[in-house]
Formats: sequence, structure tokens, C-alpha cells
Amino acid sequence: MAGGFGLIGCLVVVVAAVLVSGASAETHMVGDDLQWKVPPGGPIAYSVWADKQDFQIGDTLIFNWTGNHDVVKVSKSVFDNCTTTNVVGTVQSTSPANFTLDANGTHYFICTVSNHCYFGQKVAVTIGDTGAATPLAATAFSVVLFALAFSLFTSM
Ligand SMILES: *[C@@H]1O[C@H](CO)[C@@H](O)[C@H](O)[C@H]1NC(C)=O
Ligand SMILES: *[C@@H]1O[C@H](CO)[C@@H](O)[C@H](O)[C@H]1NC(C)=O
Ligand SMILES: *[C@@H]1O[C@H](CO)[C@@H](O)[C@H](O)[C@H]1NC(C)=O
Ligand SMILES: *[C@@H]1O[C@H](CO)[C@@H](O)[C@H](O)[C@H]1NC(C)=O
Repeated sequence: MAGGFGLIGCLVVVVAAVLVSGASAETHMVGDDLQWKVPPGGPIAYSVWADKQDFQIGDTLIFNWTGNHDVVKVSKSVFDNCTTTNVVGTVQSTSPANFTLDANGTHYFICTVSNHCYFGQKVAVTIGDTGAATPLAATAFSVVLFALAFSLFTSM
């Protein structure tokens, strides 16, 4: 009996792990309908967009634009200053440009064309900020699975 429970317990853990990792990979179209441009509303536009997202490790950002723009990952000071030196990655000048979020913390992106960054074409994306929804749902789900497995075990 103890052996049977152990097996079911292992299965539950594996199933829960697969579901959790599967649920975390999402794509985020930066700016949604605004896309990637000098925002008419000024620098606030992309922070409003970012606040509404739930970013997780493994998610992909898609920057989609028409016209003369580019995108590059930068440090916080470059983001704040809108300088174009000391960029972190390669400047991507073909749309759509995709970035996979591979670590916790805040990731900064700007457009290096002319003074676009200064006029608000920049976005900061934070993982772990508003991330409560997914882990909570996953935890609740694995608790339910475990309860199911346990009732199976006790009825054997
Ligand atoms: C980028 O935007 C254009 C124009 O709105 C649209 O046709 C295209 O499907 C978008 N690309 C992606 C990858 O969503
Ligand atoms: C702006 O850039 C300078 C160096 O170029 C740096 O010393 C400073 O900390 C930056 N300012 C901000 C607000 O990050
Ligand atoms: C970026 O993602 C979009 C949508 O998934 C895709 O159409 C496009 O080919 C990708 N671009 C690159 C450079 O991988
Ligand atoms: C990211 O942060 C979460 C929550 O703080 C933590 O559980 C996780 O281990 C971190 N992942 C990495 C790769 O640092």
C-alpha cells in the first residue's frame, strides 16, 4: 500500500511540474495595438502596457513596427538616460524582433533611432512583480491532484 501511494505521489508531482512549466511560456506583443513606435501619449504608454502583463521566465516579447525603428536590450542607466552607448545586446533593426525573458528582475529595452527613446519609445519589463496569479493557480491545481490521488489510495 505504501508503495502504491509513492507511485501515485510521483505521478502527481510529474504531471504538476509539466503543467506548471507549460503554462509559463507566453508571448507578449509589446504595446498591443500601439505596437513599437514613439507613443503619442508620451513615455507613460509602455509602462501602462507593461503593468497589465504577467511576465514569467521563458516568455517572449515581440516588438513589431513599421517605419524607422529598432530595439535593443539595455541597462537601467541607459534606459533612464536614453543614451545609446553600453547597450547589452545586439541592436535588432528588423521587425518583428523577439526577446525571450530568461531571468528574474527587470529587463530594459529602447529604440536607438534619433530621440525616440527620449520621447517614450522604451519599455521596462519586470518578472516577479505581478506574478501571483499563475503560481497560485498551479499550487491550487497540484493540491487538487494530490487530493484525488490520496482518495484513490484510500479506496484501494
Ligand atoms: C505586425 O504588425 C503588422 C501590421 O499591423 C501585422 O500585419 C503583422 O501581423 C504583425 N506581426 C506580428 C508578428 O504580429
Ligand atoms: C546617466 O549616465 C551617466 C553616465 O553616462 C551615469 O553616471 C548616470 O548614473 C546616469 N543617470 C541615471 C539616472 O541613470
Ligand atoms: C518573432 O515571433 C513572431 C511571432 O511568433 C514570428 O512570426 C517571427 O518570425 C519571429 N521573429 C524572429 C526573428 O524569430
Ligand atoms: C525567480 O524568482 C522566483 C520568485 O522569487 C524564484 O522562485 C525563482 O527560483 C527565481 N528563478 C530564477 C531562475 O532565479
